[in-house]
Amino acid sequence: MKFKRLNRQSRAIKKEIGKKIFEVLESSTFIQGPNVKKLEQELANFVGVDECITCANGTDALILAIKALNIQKNDVVFVPDFTFVASAEAIVLANAIPVFVDVDIKTMTMDPKDLEEKINEVQATMIYHPKAIVTVDLFGNVCDYESIKKIAKRYDLPIIEDAAQAFGSEYKGKKAGSIGTIGTTSFFPAKNVGCYGDGGAVFTNDLAIAKKIRSIANHGREDESFHYSRIGMNSRLDELQAAILRVKLEHFKEVEIARIKENENKFMKIKYAIQKEQLNCMIVRSQFTICCKTQQERLALQKRFDKEDIPTMIYYQMPLSEQKAFQIFSHLFTKKKGDSNTKKLCQRVLSIPFDAYLHEDEIKKIKRILRINLYFNENEKI
Ligand SMILES: Cc1ncc(COP(=O)(O)O)c(C=O)c1O
Repeated sequence: MKFKRLNRQSRAIKKEIGKKIFEVLESSTFIQGPNVKKLEQELANFVGVDECITCANGTDALILAIKALNIQKNDVVFVPDFTFVASAEAIVLANAIPVFVDVDIKTMTMDPKDLEEKINEVQATMIYHPKAIVTVDLFGNVCDYESIKKIAKRYDLPIIEDAAQAFGSEYKGKKAGSIGTIGTTSFFPAKNVGCYGDGGAVFTNDLAIAKKIRSIANHGREDESFHYSRIGMNSRLDELQAAILRVKLEHFKEVEIARIKENENKFMKIKYAIQKEQLNCMIVRSQFTICCKTQQERLALQKRFDKEDIPTMIYYQMPLSEQKAFQIFSHLFTKKKGDSNTKKLCQRVLSIPFDAYLHEDEIKKIKRILRINLYFNENEKI
């Protein structure tokens, strides 16, 4: 069994993809052609925003979004401690300082209470300035935006919504990527909608921000002219990936979302703590993550899966605040006593194989191992 079944997806759409690739080759337009333009429109329509700017990958999408905010010296951007490294790395690459916020242990997304505490801590330094909040819609789940938006408003901070793992999910009727001032996503192959290489996109309803991001992503150029008004970068999605994504987006809408939900339902009766869906939301899980009671229980479960040749992953093994790369910022802020929720999750979470292409017999096999592990755990305790 594979962790993700991209091969099954490729088989299902290969005729259409082949046709699109051939058309691009025939056109000989590889950068900023008609497929990129059409895809941006289709993505904007799907996500429900006025503007979509495609770019080279999801990390660049975040860098572009943060750069658009005019970062000044000592500006701080808040980010969850429990996420993929890119969410925080982008903050540093955009010349801001990351401050890590703990997550809710059940939803595994940013804890609004800790966010407000961290904002107050930063303000109290009188040296560092709160500038923005990067929220992460982790594993497909959306954040507690009602609370986070109230805090953002109170401190006048824009929200950059990192929706790289939650394409298609909805927060109270609004699609992930459309909830913050700026939203970003990744088209890394294993994402809910992925290309055959790297790709990303930025979403916003703010026309001025969109114009600036489009310029930064294209060497700082102004519109179609050869005037460069700012230092930019080369971060463009190419025509081939755009053509592939147009096919994949349709397939995702028409077939895959429903199948992901069906497969999710088949897993729902397991006796493990599953990442809790945000209340009144429709989420499209990109990872199916369970939380064991202890680190030892997780180790035992991993071994049982290994024995049956079923791959599992630990997303994530370490809080970002403890990673060596971010230690240069660690002296700035105080640490609380005891383990954070992030730390507890790092010790106990396990992601199991999950996507639209998982077959019934494979789900049964995974569930059987979960049951066996529980049985042995309980009996060991006796
Ligand atoms: C939450 C999150 N943010 C950002 C990224 C970065 O995306 P990319 O790999 O396309 O640069 C990822 C990708 O894995 C991610 O999971």
